[in-house]
Amino acid sequence: MKNIILFSTLVLLFQVALYTCQTQKCNLKGKWKNQLGSTMNISKGQNDGYFTGSYLTTVTREKNVEIKISPISGVVHNSSEPIFAFLVKWSFSDSITSFIGQCFDDDKGERLETMWLLRAKASSSENWAATRVGSDVFRRLT
Ligand SMILES: *[C@@H]1O[C@H](CO)[C@@H](O)[C@H](O)[C@H]1NC(C)=O
Ligand SMILES: *[C@@H]1O[C@H](CO)[C@@H](O)[C@H](O)[C@H]1NC(C)=O
Repeated sequence: MKNIILFSTLVLLFQVALYTCQTQKCNLKGKWKNQLGSTMNISKGQNDGYFTGSYLTTVTREKNVEIKISPISGVVHNSSEPIFAFLVKWSFSDSITSFIGQCFDDDKGERLETMWLLRAKASSSENWAATRVGSDVFRRLT
């Protein structure tokens, strides 16, 4: 009888651990840094479905501007290794970047793999010239 109780307790503990692991795997909340040294702080994990944050870029094509922290507004699926999208509304230039990507946590480490489109203000004949595309990988800052 004792053994059965012990066994059931162990099974239960294992299931709880597994569940916790799965639901927490790759959480967006926290501080991140990309390959160029830009950093961002994300205020919430995926459980809420929406998040906000702040972004500090190290690079800009704008001339004679002072780079400032810019606001992030995003959506995320409530799942393990979630996909997400967010916007950065640059506070020092008349442009917006949209990021889309997925959070991974595997043998290559916890990271956000993203692609982005940056749109700067232009006349309609320069639509595409005013849109840039790229990709960034963010790693968690500890
Ligand atoms: C997100 O998932 C977690 C774990 O499955 C659950 O507890 C939580 O209620 C979910 N949140 C939403 C907004 O669905
Ligand atoms: C992130 O938070 C830290 C303080 O915890 C702050 O020093 C840093 O400027 C913030 N970065 C951004 C991009 O908001």
